[in-house]
Amino acid sequence: GLEGFPHYMLKEIYEQPDSLTAAMRGRLSDVDATAVFGGLNLTPQQLRNVNRIVLTACGTSWHAAMVGEYLIEELARIPVEVEYASELRYRNPPVEQGTLLFALTQSGETADTLAALREMKRKGHPSLAICNVVGSTIAHEADGGVYLHAGPEIGVASTKAYTSQVAVMTMLALYFGRLRHLSYEAGQRIITQLRKLPDLVRETLEVNGEVRRIAAKYAHANNFLYLGRQFNFPTALEGALKLKEISYIHAEGYPAAEMKHGPIALVDQHTPSVFLMPQGGVYDKVMSNLEEIKARGGPVIAIAAKGDKEIARLADDVIYVPVVEEFLSPLINIVPLQLLAYHVAVHRGCDVDKPRNLAKSVTVE
Ligand code: F6R
Repeated sequence: GLEGFPHYMLKEIYEQPDSLTAAMRGRLSDVDATAVFGGLNLTPQQLRNVNRIVLTACGTSWHAAMVGEYLIEELARIPVEVEYASELRYRNPPVEQGTLLFALTQSGETADTLAALREMKRKGHPSLAICNVVGSTIAHEADGGVYLHAGPEIGVASTKAYTSQVAVMTMLALYFGRLRHLSYEAGQRIITQLRKLPDLVRETLEVNGEVRRIAAKYAHANNFLYLGRQFNFPTALEGALKLKEISYIHAEGYPAAEMKHGPIALVDQHTPSVFLMPQGGVYDKVMSNLEEIKARGGPVIAIAAKGDKEIARLADDVIYVPVVEEFLSPLINIVPLQLLAYHVAVHRGCDVDKPRNLAKSVTVE
């Protein structure tokens, strides 16, 4: 049941501290400073020989795969490609030996994702699933994989499955990193950070009231831009998709610096831009992208780290979230964007849990 929540989507957003705990349960080893997975079904030799990883998925799961690309390349230094399943199934790309496929899917029933998995399996590449629904078709056909253990996701717009997928991607990056160059100390540090995550997400949920206020202010806009860089470029894509799906407002996610190559033409006083501004290497760069938008009269909503004093001077509205290391920031920053999409949709009177034209699992191609 809804347990007092007005919609499943909001309930599932609030379940994230628990679903993240479940995703990590039994999968972090202090002794070896690594992640452990029971069901990869690959020999140590096969695992050591992985020199390329292909991630395939659709929609929100594809965004989780994009975060995975940044994480695995950064922590494990293995080249990663992210492919839309609908493209991969017909594209016939050259795939070298030593390539491992992961199909990411909440439902385990998405037709294109299943076809992409079958195609890679047919070519002899180990093909694993990162899946939520136990016993689903993709979980069954894959050579092995990792379950999310997020519990049933009823809202059509995916929320808790997304953060669980990103958490699994982080643990896989740790795992492959520790098979290679990542030191014991570095592994231990990542584990310590991961363990704090559920409480940090709980703390992040405290922005709900503030987000509802901001949502009311912008609910009548016809266009939104979502901008972020590096680990949070996929967060921008996912934030935009959430808004599109449930509020029917046109929204685009972009890597912040791509703005000036076209989309900046859209900016006017009626087009809000949502900026992802975590502390870290590209903060100053994102800030100058933000200034470009302000200079053209565009309203700016910033998702920034607590303690950031500079941002309040420039952004019209700021949502402050807990400070985390950059590689974990996608898991924190997506929470206010889920809430923003939710409150805008409620404000506009949309059917949040059953948006028009969409189905929970897309079993036709
Ligand atoms: C968006 C959403 C869809 C799904 C996509 C893939 O909120 O739910 O974009 O992510 O249809 O579904 P799964 O993960 O079940 O393969």
